[in-house]
Amino acid sequence: MTNRLDILILAAGLGTRMRSNLAKVLHKLDGRPLINHVVEAALALEPDTVCVIVGHQAEDVKAAVSDEFRDERICFALQEKQLGTGDAVASTRELYDGTDSTIVVLTGDVPLIKPETIRSMIEQHRVQGTAATILSVRLNDPSGYGRVMRDRSGGFARIVEQKDASDDEKKVSEINAGFYCFSASKLYTAIGQLSSDNAQGEYYLTDVPGIFLRQGDSVGIFTASDPTEVEGVNDRRQLASLERVFREQTIERLMLESGVTFIDPSSAYISAKAALGRDTIICQDVTIEGNTVLGEGCTIRPGVRIVNSTIGSYVEIKDNSFVTDSIVGDGCTVGPMAHLRGHAEMIEGSKVGNFVELKKTRLGRGSKASHLTYLGDATIGEKTNIGAGTITCNYDGKNKHATVIGDGVKIGSDTMLVAPVTVGDGASTGAGSVVTKDVLDNELVVGVPARPKR
Ligand code: UD1
Ligand code: CA
Repeated sequence: MTNRLDILILAAGLGTRMRSNLAKVLHKLDGRPLINHVVEAALALEPDTVCVIVGHQAEDVKAAVSDEFRDERICFALQEKQLGTGDAVASTRELYDGTDSTIVVLTGDVPLIKPETIRSMIEQHRVQGTAATILSVRLNDPSGYGRVMRDRSGGFARIVEQKDASDDEKKVSEINAGFYCFSASKLYTAIGQLSSDNAQGEYYLTDVPGIFLRQGDSVGIFTASDPTEVEGVNDRRQLASLERVFREQTIERLMLESGVTFIDPSSAYISAKAALGRDTIICQDVTIEGNTVLGEGCTIRPGVRIVNSTIGSYVEIKDNSFVTDSIVGDGCTVGPMAHLRGHAEMIEGSKVGNFVELKKTRLGRGSKASHLTYLGDATIGEKTNIGAGTITCNYDGKNKHATVIGDGVKIGSDTMLVAPVTVGDGASTGAGSVVTKDVLDNELVVGVPARPKR
C-alpha cells in the first residue's frame, strides 16, 4: 500500500449564488479568504503536495494563497472553463495520473473542515482498500447538497445532486460533504468516462464513485458526526452563519482555556489568530482582528477596535478607540476616542487621552498626551507632557519630517512643532507657540515663531 498523499482543492468556480464580482473562495471568513482556511487544513495533514485548482479569477486566488503560505508543497492547476467539479479534477491529470497516490479532494468553499476529520477518512480509506471513500453527514436540512443513496445492505449506491433528485430522493438527509479519497490509479480513468447529461450540464465529480461501483470496484462511506464542519458557503447568508459559528468557537476557547471575561460574547468579534491573556476583560462591541496579542488583566472598553497590534498587560483601552499595527506597553492608558496607527509605540505607563492620534510615533515611559493632539513621525522621551491641542507639523506637502522631544519636557497647549525639529531635555514651550527651530535643553521658547525667553 502507498503512503503518498496528494490533496486537491476545488476553487475554480465563480460562485454565482454569492451575487458578487469577487470569486467565492476569496470572500473572507475571520478576515481570511475562504480558500486559505482549507489550505491550512490540507497542510496540517502533512501531504506530499496540495494542488489548488483555480479558474475564475485564477491569478487573484493564487496570490491570496501565496500571500499567506510560503510552502513548496503548494501548486496550482488551471481549469480553463468551469465545466463542473469532475472537469476541475481532470485539470490535474498530468500531475498525478499513473502515480500510486491517495488523492484527497477538498472543497474550497467549505472552510470549517477539521484536519482530524479528513485524517480519519483517509485511515478508513486505506484500511478498507476501497477505490473511493466519500464523506457524508446527516443534516436536519439537507437542501442544496448532493444526497448519498445507499443500497439495501446499507452500502454506497450513488450520489444524486439536488437539481437531479426526485422528490423521494430529496427526502434523504444524508448528504455528500464534498470531501473524497480516491486511488490515483483509478480516478483519472473514471474521470474520462464522465458525462454531462444532467440537470446542470456539468461533469460531476460525484458520478465517479458510481462509475467505480459499475466496474466492480468498492466505494466506502465515512460518516462524520459534526454537521457544522461540512457547511458550505454558497450564498451570503451561509457566509454570515459560518462567521458566527467561527466567532463563537473562538470566544468559547478564550473564555474556557485562556481565562478571558466577555461582558457580552454575542457582540464581541475576536479573530482566531489573536491571543488574549488571563483576566483580561472584553466589553461589548469590541473587535480584535489579525495577529493581535493582549497581555493579562487588560480592560478593553466598548466600541474599541484593535488590528494586528501587541498590547501589554494591565492596559486600559477606553471607549471607541482604534489601534492598528501598533505596540502598547504594560500599564498604559489609551482613549477614549484615540487613534494609534503606523507602528505607533507607547512605552510602559504612558498615556494617550481623548482625540489623540499617534502615527509612527514612540511615546516614552510615563509620558502623556491627554487631549486633542496629533503626533506623527515623532520620538518622545520619558515623563514628558504634551499639552492639549499640540500638533507635529510633519508634512511639508512633499515629504514627511521627524520631531524629536526629550525627557521631562513640557509642551504648552496648542504648540505647533514644525518638523524637522528637536526639543531638548527639560525644555518648555509656551501656549500657542510655533516652534520652527531646535530648542536647547532646559530652554523655554514662546511666540510665533517661537523664540527663547529667559
Ligand atoms: C458540490 C457537490 C455536492 C456536495 C456539495 C458539498 C458536485 C457536482 N456536487 O455541490 O454533491 O453536496 O458540493 O458542498 O460536485 N468548482 C470548480 N470547477 C467547476 C465547478 C466547481 O473548481 O467547474 C469548485 C467551486 O469553486 C467550489 C467547489 O468546486 O469550491 C464546489 O462547487 P459548487 O458549485 O459550490 O458545488 P455544490 O453545488 O455546492
Ligand atoms: Ca458549494
